[in-house]
Amino acid sequence: MSNPLFFTIPLIAIPILYWLYTYPKNKYKQTNLVLYVHDSLTGDDKSAITIAGKDGPTTSIMHFGTLLVHDDSVTLSPDPRSKEIGRAQGMYINSQLDGKALYMSFSIMFIDGEFKGSTLEIQGADPFALKEREFSVVSGTGYFRFVRGYGIMTTEFMDIQNLKAIIKLNITVKHF
Ligand SMILES: *[C@@H]1O[C@H](CO)[C@@H](O)[C@H](O)[C@H]1NC(C)=O
Repeated sequence: MSNPLFFTIPLIAIPILYWLYTYPKNKYKQTNLVLYVHDSLTGDDKSAITIAGKDGPTTSIMHFGTLLVHDDSVTLSPDPRSKEIGRAQGMYINSQLDGKALYMSFSIMFIDGEFKGSTLEIQGADPFALKEREFSVVSGTGYFRFVRGYGIMTTEFMDIQNLKAIIKLNITVKHF
């Protein structure tokens, strides 16, 4: 009992064991998602309307000061007929004086698949003339509680005449 090691070994070992036990739980998980958003201002699959602008609802989203509301289909593949797993609901506001960038604020509401019932909150600038636009993921619910992240947006398909677009969102989020 007079050997000091008898006391010091447990004193060192206990904090180490505690750290090993709790360490993995404190680590963030990272999830990557690739989603396609189908946005259409015309036709049977119309999912977005301009509601305000310099000429009222007839103003083009390409003009500064125009507000658009959308409820777009979200799929896992670029094919618009592929299985819908969510909706992208919110708004775009043309917020660049020359008309070349939107401000986006919308929720991705997962209605099917792995993340059914959860949401992601997207917010940021969309200078849509650029090939790749980075945006932020500010929060989420359900599986995505406490989430933070970013995404890269690219235009997969664009029909300017009929104002239809398929947007690829490549999202990387960290969460508990
Ligand atoms: C998604 O973005 C990450 C970088 O954030 C990249 O490494 C990955 O290849 C991209 N995936 C797709 C399918 O574009």
